[in-house]
Amino acid sequence: MSRILVLGAAGLLGINLAIEASADHEVIGTVHRRRLQEAPFETVSTDLLEADALPALLDAAKPDWLINCAALADVDKCEDQPDLAQALNVELPGRLAKEATKRSIALVHISTDAVFDGEKGNYKEEDPAMPLNVYGHSKLDGEQAVLEAYPQAIVARVNFFGWGLDGQRSLAEFFYNKLSLDETALGLTDRYFSPLLVNDLSKLLLRILEEELSGLFHVASPSGMSKYDFAVALAKRFGFDEELVKPAKAETISYVAPRAADLRLDTKKLQLALGEEIPDVHSGIEGLHALRQQGYPDQLKAIANAKAALRDRFK
Ligand SMILES: NC(=O)c1ccc[n+]([C@@H]2O[C@H](COP(=O)([O-])OP(=O)(O)OC[C@H]3O[C@@H](n4cnc5c(N)ncnc54)[C@H](OP(=O)(O)O)[C@@H]3O)[C@@H](O)[C@H]2O)c1
Repeated sequence: MSRILVLGAAGLLGINLAIEASADHEVIGTVHRRRLQEAPFETVSTDLLEADALPALLDAAKPDWLINCAALADVDKCEDQPDLAQALNVELPGRLAKEATKRSIALVHISTDAVFDGEKGNYKEEDPAMPLNVYGHSKLDGEQAVLEAYPQAIVARVNFFGWGLDGQRSLAEFFYNKLSLDETALGLTDRYFSPLLVNDLSKLLLRILEEELSGLFHVASPSGMSKYDFAVALAKRFGFDEELVKPAKAETISYVAPRAADLRLDTKKLQLALGEEIPDVHSGIEGLHALRQQGYPDQLKAIANAKAALRDRFK
């Protein structure tokens, strides 16, 4: 059993990772604006951008492992607020890496497939990164800041979907919410990705720490698909009308930040290092459905807001 500090434990990845890790480890999760009412792990409220927040947190928590899921992860917000993106996605990880290396704490820093321009697809770790937007640039600079300060740290480039605290954060929840109400949803036929179910991703990050790996890894599904195919696969698994998914091209949507076309990642380096098969997007959709059957989204709702969940139960 290790003592794990999860930064950003109320985010989509952070909450699922902290819950997965709590099964076998002692977990402390940091929260910021959102408070957690009934988390199955210890929480600490902190603004990680405050001067001295990090050293104080690390000295108090004394973790063996540190996983940084805190970020400005909204691509369009990064375009609108580049200074905040710089502070959260570049400077914070750099400071974190310095503090972690001083204390010999194993560090996983979470990065993204959006460091690539999406022209090629099936990107390997050594392929040149050429981000298209402020978010991608900030995440790439964050990776470099971490590995410069702490070369033994792990930087995991990820993409994921799953159930979150507010039921609205991930692409899977977007499609689920629309299709379950018999509403149509646009599925992009010219945007490709290779996402993992966030719970599978969480288990892989813990395996990476157990195996004491270091350096840059693509932690994604070994196979990818278009966002349209993802929506259709989800509709089929949940028994929704797949005709509700309308094929569309990305040019019909006006985003604030430019988006890359093909962000599928090659995961052979990770597969070789762990010596095991990595779950893929198809098994992830199965898992998403199984979690729904087990009432997992309601459990998350209860963690986010115990009183509201209790009220709903007795309505
Ligand atoms: N979501 C995806 O599909 C995706 C894809 C590729 C890579 N990633 C990467 O995966 C990681 C996790 O993403 P996510 O989607 O889970 O993000 P998220 O849901 O937006 O969570 C980010 C967390 O960071 C916390 N945070 C922000 N500012 C903070 C501050 N000043 N002090 C303390 N905590 C602060 C937020 O707390 P508050 O909201 O309370 O401020 C939030 O809980 C990020 O590194 C992201 O770049 C995500």
